[in-house]
Amino acid sequence: MVVNHQKDIISIKDLSKKDIDYILKVAEKMEPIARSKKRSTVLGGKMLGMLFYEPSTRTRISFETAMKRLGGSTIGFLEAGVSSATKGENLHDTAKIISEYADAIVIRHNMEGAARYVADSVDVPVINAGDGAGQHPTQTLLDLYTMKRIVGKTKDLHVSLVGDLKYGRTVHSLAYALAMFGVDMSFISPRELRMPKDVLHDLSKLGVSVEETENINSVLDKSDVLYVTRIQKERFPDPEEYSKIKDAYMIDLKLLKGTDLIVMHPLPRVNEIAYEVDNTPYGRYFEQAFYGVPVRMAILDLLIKNSEEI
Ligand code: CP
Repeated sequence: MVVNHQKDIISIKDLSKKDIDYILKVAEKMEPIARSKKRSTVLGGKMLGMLFYEPSTRTRISFETAMKRLGGSTIGFLEAGVSSATKGENLHDTAKIISEYADAIVIRHNMEGAARYVADSVDVPVINAGDGAGQHPTQTLLDLYTMKRIVGKTKDLHVSLVGDLKYGRTVHSLAYALAMFGVDMSFISPRELRMPKDVLHDLSKLGVSVEETENINSVLDKSDVLYVTRIQKERFPDPEEYSKIKDAYMIDLKLLKGTDLIVMHPLPRVNEIAYEVDNTPYGRYFEQAFYGVPVRMAILDLLIKNSEEI
């Protein structure tokens, strides 16, 4: 299992299919605790260090919730502006100090590779909560858990990834994981926001063939899951480029009518899913966000303690 050979979760590629299946199984055991139906102090006395150099609502708060639901505590900062980074302290030294205080570190950073750099600098487990346009592996684990809980399986599926596939770290991680599970995929994006070539190359090396298209209508009938992402304004070097494609896709009930799929989204959304979808059997993104708690409880328990006494 993961903790026997792997102290960090930086990329989804750090995990095997067996590891992922195991984490999803532990998450199921965590769900009653996440729903406040059962209590646990399995991580009592343990401390999680949170280094958030980029804004976050779900990832940060669900990690905090997960730690506290298991009896542990959290320390850290929610933006670099309140840390000694403003006085010139580098990432290495900041992480080293937090590793002296905490039993594990969760880091979100705008630079791709920052989480790996921190993992190489400290002795405690490090979890990547998103590094620039790189990876967001714990989001992928909760995405898979959502499919397992709602669709009932993580294989024999067709998943269509829509939106900003170039800068979207959630879809980069998810594409690798879905490939591991042998899931059929379609990639739908404007030409300017296609999935990066290195990801396509890796998928092709894994023997996975993916359909790429700009036309969302062409994938609806065959999709079990429509995984929608936000066009990420903050990653565009040229604001005019963003303006041209920001409204490329709008998922509304007219588009979804007659289909038999669920709509997922890592959130936050901006304009890409109409509010009318929220309270229908299609819209599952709020449940998806909840599943971040049991999945992150499983990850924290496995990396910090591996107690199995939940
Ligand atoms: N899904 C996700 O990473 O959301 P936050 O940016 O709010 O953490």
